[in-house]
Amino acid sequence: MNADRLLSGDKITDELKTESLGRNLVILGETDSTNNIAKELAASGAVHGTAVIADSQTNGRGRLGRSFVSPEGCGIYMSVIIRPRFSLETAQLITSCCACAAAEAVESLCGEKVAVKWVNDLYIGGRKICGILTEASINGRNSTLDYAVIGIGINVLSSENAFDDELKAIATSIEAETGVKLSRNTLCAELLNRLEVHLENIESREYLNEYRRRELLTGHIITANTGGSTFIGRAVGIDDNACLLIELEDGTIKTVNSGEANRCRIKD
Ligand code: BTN
Repeated sequence: MNADRLLSGDKITDELKTESLGRNLVILGETDSTNNIAKELAASGAVHGTAVIADSQTNGRGRLGRSFVSPEGCGIYMSVIIRPRFSLETAQLITSCCACAAAEAVESLCGEKVAVKWVNDLYIGGRKICGILTEASINGRNSTLDYAVIGIGINVLSSENAFDDELKAIATSIEAETGVKLSRNTLCAELLNRLEVHLENIESREYLNEYRRRELLTGHIITANTGGSTFIGRAVGIDDNACLLIELEDGTIKTVNSGEANRCRIKD
């Protein structure tokens, strides 16, 4: 394997421009889930910006109880601990803010347009290349955010047999879509660099303009599952809290702040 195809803390650090993110790096071979490790580290006091990066995960976790297939040497499996001073309302923007940072980082390095599907998935050529799982710890005494762990999984290089046929229909890698074999070290650094800038400016909500430009559902008939209910309607936009706005059949607008939505397979 080409040397730069191995994860290297030194190589990532060489390309970092951040003040805090990634300045404390924990590089692992195989682990169950970098989010699990990061949560343990955060609970025992790890500093803001600590990033846990693994070469593979045996129990990579996605949103809604799903798994994130994480084969050795093929992806970025990274969890970043942040201890922000902003409000819980702002904390709800973390995942969409991170999606913008990740889309920019991938696009800048591979040259292919990267789209976002609300709320946390990145797409190239109609299939998913990246998912984000944010897990927060709230301080019960004063209802503030103690820390958040932002887990980012990116399929960088093609893996021979890791994806079964069902997964291949919906997920792909940057290499498979663009032919570009990115250095995972460079992509980690680029992601941390952009994430720090975006998080610093999160309260301005400026990133939402970019998020809206990249978003895939808007304008289409979709089905959304949220809080145990299903809604069908036309996605008409993303509001200032990164919620999905759906125009229902009776003309009312439903604001969805969590869950999952997909384009319907009917003609629209
Ligand atoms: C999703 O697609 O629903 C989110 C996937 C998030 C995967 C990343 S990989 C690094 C971190 N560790 C995990 O177990 N999950 C996240």
